[in-house]
Amino acid sequence: MKTASVVASLVLVGTCALASSDSELLEKVKNSGVKPIPQSQLELLKLVDDPKNPITENKVELGKKLYFEPRLSKSGLISCNTCHNLGLGGADGVAAAVGHKWTANPAHLNSPTVYNSVLNKVQFWDGRSPHLEDQAQGPIQAGPEMAAPAELVVARVTSIPAYVEEFKKAYGDDVKIDFKLIADTIAIFERTLVTPSRFDKFLHGDLDALTPAEKEGLNLFVDKGCASCHNDIGLGGTMQPFQVAKKYKFASLGGFQGDENGMVKTPTLRNIEETAPYFHNGGIWSLADAVKEMGSTQLGISISNDDSKKIVTFLKALTGEKPDVSYPILPASTINTPKPDMN
Ligand code: HEC
Ligand code: HEC
Repeated sequence: MKTASVVASLVLVGTCALASSDSELLEKVKNSGVKPIPQSQLELLKLVDDPKNPITENKVELGKKLYFEPRLSKSGLISCNTCHNLGLGGADGVAAAVGHKWTANPAHLNSPTVYNSVLNKVQFWDGRSPHLEDQAQGPIQAGPEMAAPAELVVARVTSIPAYVEEFKKAYGDDVKIDFKLIADTIAIFERTLVTPSRFDKFLHGDLDALTPAEKEGLNLFVDKGCASCHNDIGLGGTMQPFQVAKKYKFASLGGFQGDENGMVKTPTLRNIEETAPYFHNGGIWSLADAVKEMGSTQLGISISNDDSKKIVTFLKALTGEKPDVSYPILPASTINTPKPDMN
């Protein structure tokens, strides 16, 4: 055999081995229960739509305005976007959320991201809300958040003729604008906030979509057992036991105990590099430290600095493409619009 062909066949063997280990990794990840965001628009729509109030362009556009609408709060200063800032990974970057009258969340709870929250099986850290429509009613009325009674919210919205027109356009001329419909419309906008990433391309079979270092981190992520809780399309979103092996380092901060069984909603890991600080009370700022803490609290293992860094390299590949959200121009108040109330 000539040297050149020996080299050629060695190279060939080399590439085959590489390719097959990549496809083995892909198989392994799929078997771990992690799933991609669908590639086809139709399948994606099926996944995020609610047949009881189907997504339409007019509803999404109105829902976006309401999402950015500070007049839904008592003070007229706080919108959903204050704490779930779409330019900041859908969160606020502070440990405990701050709302009406500069009040921090009484249980020191951190604002979860709204990106991909439609993929959660339940909403809130203790999973007390079943879906986004129900969830959206909570923060508007909650004292430490937007502090606006339902009647005030309806009075503000219906005092603005441009909003009434938009509701008619979205739902028909005989629409009844009540608090529930306002919350439902915000939820429809939230349903569109899904962020596909290079990791999804990999799961759809593009084996080059991740770098070798990201693949190494992904392999560790599965081998260490992370995917036993951070799985399905959201890499999170279900209730899981917390502090399985050991108490969380900052457990006493805020006193949150999970639901009645001590279970906590597993956060999505999509866009995780954008949403520090981490955990329900924002106790940990470094993603590498958060990974190590998971090893100790959830898996009863010690994850080395080196392995934790590698896992973080993979986690950063979960940063997705954000939908194009242009900042909406909101219609002017009228003389009948209830005034801001700072108390
Ligand atoms: C003052 C800050 C603040 C404001 C304003 C606010 N939120 Fe939140 N949001 C939070 C906090 C904190 C949580 C977690 C609370 C809990 O689990 O009890 C949360 C939870 C959520 C969740 C659940 C996500 C998950 O993964 O569990 C969604 C969805 C959400 N908010 C959407 C909204 C919408 C829509 C609005 C506007 C109507 C809004 N929020 C206004 C702070 C805020
Ligand atoms: C037994 C289930 C379980 C396992 C296993 C698990 N996690 Fe978690 N993870 C959770 C839960 C529940 C939380 C939320 C805990 C809290 O804040 O109270 C969480 C939180 C996190 C957070 C912080 C997210 C945020 O937005 O604040 C990161 C990062 C994370 N996990 C990564 C990992 C990694 C990496 C592994 C593997 C080394 C792992 N997890 C293993 C259930 C699990």
